[in-house]
Amino acid sequence: MCGIVGCIGKNKGREYIINGLKTLDYRGYDSAGVAFLKQDKITIYKDAGSVSHLNSLIPSKEEGDVLIGHTRWATHGKPNKINSHPHMSYDGEFVLVHNGIVERFAEHKASLIEQGVTFKSDTDSEVVVNMIALFYKEEKDVLKAIRRVMETIEGSYAISLIHRGENRLYVLKNVSPLLVGIGEDFNLVASDASPMIEHTNKFIELGDKEYGYIEKSSYKIYNFEGQEVTKELISKDISLVKHDLNGYDHYMLKEIEEIPSVITRLVNHYVLDHEFNFDKDLINKIRESDHIIFLGCGTSYHASLVGGRYFEEMLGIPTASYIASEWAFHPMFPGKKPFIVFISQSGETADLIHCLNIVKQYDYDTLLITNTSGSTLERGCKYSLNIQAGVEVSVASTKAYAAQVAMLLLVVAAVKSNIKIAHEIINALPIIKKIKEKQEDIKKVANFIKDKQSIFYIGRGYDYYLSLEASLKLKEISYIHSEAIAGGELKHGPIALIENDTPVIVFITDHMTANSMRGNIEEVKSRGAKVFVISTRELSKESDTIVIDPYPNFLSSIIVSTAAFYLAYYTSLSKGYDVDKPRNLAKSVTVE
Ligand code: F6R
Repeated sequence: MCGIVGCIGKNKGREYIINGLKTLDYRGYDSAGVAFLKQDKITIYKDAGSVSHLNSLIPSKEEGDVLIGHTRWATHGKPNKINSHPHMSYDGEFVLVHNGIVERFAEHKASLIEQGVTFKSDTDSEVVVNMIALFYKEEKDVLKAIRRVMETIEGSYAISLIHRGENRLYVLKNVSPLLVGIGEDFNLVASDASPMIEHTNKFIELGDKEYGYIEKSSYKIYNFEGQEVTKELISKDISLVKHDLNGYDHYMLKEIEEIPSVITRLVNHYVLDHEFNFDKDLINKIRESDHIIFLGCGTSYHASLVGGRYFEEMLGIPTASYIASEWAFHPMFPGKKPFIVFISQSGETADLIHCLNIVKQYDYDTLLITNTSGSTLERGCKYSLNIQAGVEVSVASTKAYAAQVAMLLLVVAAVKSNIKIAHEIINALPIIKKIKEKQEDIKKVANFIKDKQSIFYIGRGYDYYLSLEASLKLKEISYIHSEAIAGGELKHGPIALIENDTPVIVFITDHMTANSMRGNIEEVKSRGAKVFVISTRELSKESDTIVIDPYPNFLSSIIVSTAAFYLAYYTSLSKGYDVDKPRNLAKSVTVE
């Protein structure tokens, strides 16, 4: 995973690198580092921990002509100082930052060691920098050395490289994203546009197996065959790239509270003058299909479960939702005309890219539901729909989840030509604002569960899907073991875990399942559970903890999820954790 930045010719380059790394730490935050090249001198600062910590290690006057920086999510080697990037070649001539994974790196490393190369770290990235240094000794030309490395290694890489004594920033890319930002008398490099948007809105995007170099006022990019390629200049929608806390203490809280405006923007984008604004071809393809296959990971997989229910119940089209990493090892294409829907906020999730490569061997239609335009998955899918959620900074997804579900519902509404559904979504949004008013009650629940070892969420139907997402959110930011259990499954095993004061959060928002859920409550209570019920008014009982105004039942995952998100947020906060950057995680999971 990891994020990389680089700059040449930039006044206050250090400021760009440090701020840029802070912007990119959604890609990993196990360690951070920066290298300064000033004429012949290369100075590296790096350590485990945050970018702010890194900044505190750098003397205030330190500057350079060419700089590269890195924020890491550990794949090979522990998240310590030695394994932090940048990595220097054994001869001290080259330094690089790398995002990606080099396949069979151990074999390459062994062969380099045989040739006399010494290693300091456990990373695959150090293999690349040493290989470049070794090839350079033979070729006496950095570009030729880079090309030989690209011919030798397989895997994913976005690399920015400096060479002692050369006022240049070299780049090479395969699979992992890499953008060059074009400035006036300076040029920048980063994993995405967000660190650069303050400085330029002119970018070139490197394609797979492209490489080249960047100087202060020019650049040259080559394809794998060594021919120079002319790159198209692109610009980015600034409002979707920029982000700030806007007075909130945490991005997660801000993003939960953006849900009503995000959903409104989404509906307004896809419904114009009371007409659906979708590609007609896409809608027809869905109508013609006899099976919808949903592929997603984590939160996006949970959204797909809700979407599957919409397609089955409202359109009568059978569906199957799969965890991408599972499906990839046992691909199934039920029906004669399956239609494949990838759900991915980032569009860069490696498990999904693996699935897409499998699907590409067939002639099936593909749709991506995403929050990021120009991603690898978007380039590979026939159709793409953007959920319009804007950048989501907090690692725990909230507004993007709600928008994914709303997007799926809008697609179903468009296939059904039922504009009323779009209106129902908008009409229900004020209820989310009322949930905000119940924050004091939610904080009391957070206070009860914060020191517990284990917690359970139960529900049936839509409420079960909601439980899955609520449980994931709680565990990822509060580190409390949490499980979601379908109400009917309790007695088939999990109820054995219930003991005195075990917290059980129950969702009751569906009249079809409400009575059965009340039965489940009695079962867990009689084993000592401390039950907190979140219900809708018409199904509520006096003892329920949070009672929510009525809305169409199929909107639970959009409306009631906010209560679950607040609960996860306040639990993490009360434990003193970094809500937006939970341990061991990263926003974009670009490794399998
Ligand atoms: C959790 C969360 C993750 C992502 C998952 C897939 O809050 O956001 O579970 O949903 O890593 O990522 P995308 O949607 O980018 O494919």
